[in-house]
Amino acid sequence: MLTAHDYSSGHACDQANIDMILVGDSLSMTALGHPNTLKVTMKEMIHHAKAVKRGVNRSFLIGDMPFGSYFNNKDALKNSAKFIRDSEMNAIKLEGGRNVAHIVKEIVRAGIVVMGHIGLTPQQTNTFGGFKVFGARAVEEAMLLWEDAKILRDAGASFIVLECVPDRMATLISKNLGIPTIGIGSGPGCSGQVLVFNDLIGVYDKLSLKFCKKYADLNPVIINACEAYKHEVENKLFPVKPTHTFIIKEEIFKEVNKRIIQEMEKIHPITSSVTETKPIKNKENINSLPVKNIVVLGTGALGSLIAARLSQNSATNVRLIDGRNMSTDDAYKINIGLNEDSSNKSTQHIVKNLKVDELNNQWNKQIDLLVVCVKNYGTEEALNNLLTLTSNKVLINNVITLQNGFGNTETISKTLEKLGLKSNVFQCSIYSGVKINEKNNNLINISQSVSDDIQIALPEALAHSEIEKLFKENQFKVSNYIKPSYLKQELNVDWGKLIINSVINPITAIFNVQNKVISENEQAIQLCKSIIHECVNILRFIPGALAAIQKEKNEDVEALLFSNVMNVAKTTGSNISSTLTDLLRNEGKTEIESFNGAFVKLAKELGLAKEYYSVNETIVNLIQGTASIKNSRK
Ligand code: KIV
Repeated sequence: MLTAHDYSSGHACDQANIDMILVGDSLSMTALGHPNTLKVTMKEMIHHAKAVKRGVNRSFLIGDMPFGSYFNNKDALKNSAKFIRDSEMNAIKLEGGRNVAHIVKEIVRAGIVVMGHIGLTPQQTNTFGGFKVFGARAVEEAMLLWEDAKILRDAGASFIVLECVPDRMATLISKNLGIPTIGIGSGPGCSGQVLVFNDLIGVYDKLSLKFCKKYADLNPVIINACEAYKHEVENKLFPVKPTHTFIIKEEIFKEVNKRIIQEMEKIHPITSSVTETKPIKNKENINSLPVKNIVVLGTGALGSLIAARLSQNSATNVRLIDGRNMSTDDAYKINIGLNEDSSNKSTQHIVKNLKVDELNNQWNKQIDLLVVCVKNYGTEEALNNLLTLTSNKVLINNVITLQNGFGNTETISKTLEKLGLKSNVFQCSIYSGVKINEKNNNLINISQSVSDDIQIALPEALAHSEIEKLFKENQFKVSNYIKPSYLKQELNVDWGKLIINSVINPITAIFNVQNKVISENEQAIQLCKSIIHECVNILRFIPGALAAIQKEKNEDVEALLFSNVMNVAKTTGSNISSTLTDLLRNEGKTEIESFNGAFVKLAKELGLAKEYYSVNETIVNLIQGTASIKNSRK
């Protein structure tokens, strides 16, 4: 959004494809030369708005109600209707929060679209005492701002201008409010931005008569400036922190953030988003579903381990299949040892391969539980292979994914939906390190990094379910529940594990080393701290994410994550990480997009400035670049 006050400025904005144009009362100062915005009248505003309208073909137009034009409902209704009727504005804007809510309600009820305006409201500078940043000085002041935004939204405002609000407050409000915010001096976290046209540049562009010698051709310069502004806003290059923003003290922000999150959690109670968003096709109650016929997809270290452990239970039928090549062997022989030792002190498990006849006849074309253990980038291919094998005539009740990274449940759901299947999909994660020592047709030797039970995190929706029981009965320890996010189902993620993956994988891959080097090399340790720091800062914007990582309230999350990473690096010391394995395979594919790439994507979606994700972005580029160069040299 930009302001305009006459034909030329309106026309330039329109030509630059600016989405919304505000005929702002700032024209009192910029066009009429008054010392403040209080001087401009309704008549003058309409006069200017009509001129702007003449220059505009496509942009959405908003007329700014001047000081004194909406002191009571009657004046407000009369003047806003006149604004719309006489100058053909699409909406009106007025300043104020709770004090004007009743007026906003009346105008909206009359069918007029209203934009609110809080923070610094220049029409009230006499009351508030000059031009100041709003919502920064105390928790109460910041909470007033949040309350005002909600009151305006509830009164029917369609969008709200946030002027001179500390950027973190503006982001917090924008994320939680539910209607768009337009920021000026309020940082990059608002839904949109506005600037006063004259602050960009202001000149008249109509010079067509013969005797009018052109001493400068400023119109293209103006249009360029408007286009550059639009481009920078859309690409998050303007405004940037701290150059164009104001600061709020850490302790004030923390308190306000906590209060707003608590409030939002009450509005959107934490329930299973799975049961809310996806109808369970066959069964009413997920917790009492029988889990008898199980297919594990993926014969890597994790898939083999899961299949072997789950098949210890004679009450279940566990079948293992490869995600890429459908084996014709009857069964896999899986040896599980400790560390390098899978051949010696190992236990052998025989796990059958899935056979179509059995699925069709004995299993009645129904899989109770599908465990996806292929890599994120191989998901689509593996599910397609499974369903081709079964000629698509199969019902899959529940899917759990033990894949690393972010976005897995979304990929699985989408792929299954494309294939006409609706299943419940849950993200889980495994903590113990497992590695493959040997794989020879149907013989698979793997080893665990710890001798104890394997630790698994399940989503809260599976607490006390048959699936949980199944794991518990087969040498797994449920050590954590993944908390559902009220924002989006894709955000039901084990953030702690995702950060561990986003540290160990790329660093070992870039340095071309075993996991243990992470805990031994000074540069690796520094990099590890930078990645953790950046990821944690991004997660501060996801309600509940950091709390889900902390074991105790107020625990230092970065220190905790650092110690977890060091621990994993040591206990899996001789392992080659999954990303390094991918690079060594030279196939051009890695999981980096769903590790560090997930944080970059999240930061961009949240509208955060580049400084929030630059380390992760560099890491993604390094890994992707290396993968593609190695692949092209093959
Ligand atoms: O009048 C104006 O220009 C404004 C913008 C600063 C939003 O209200």
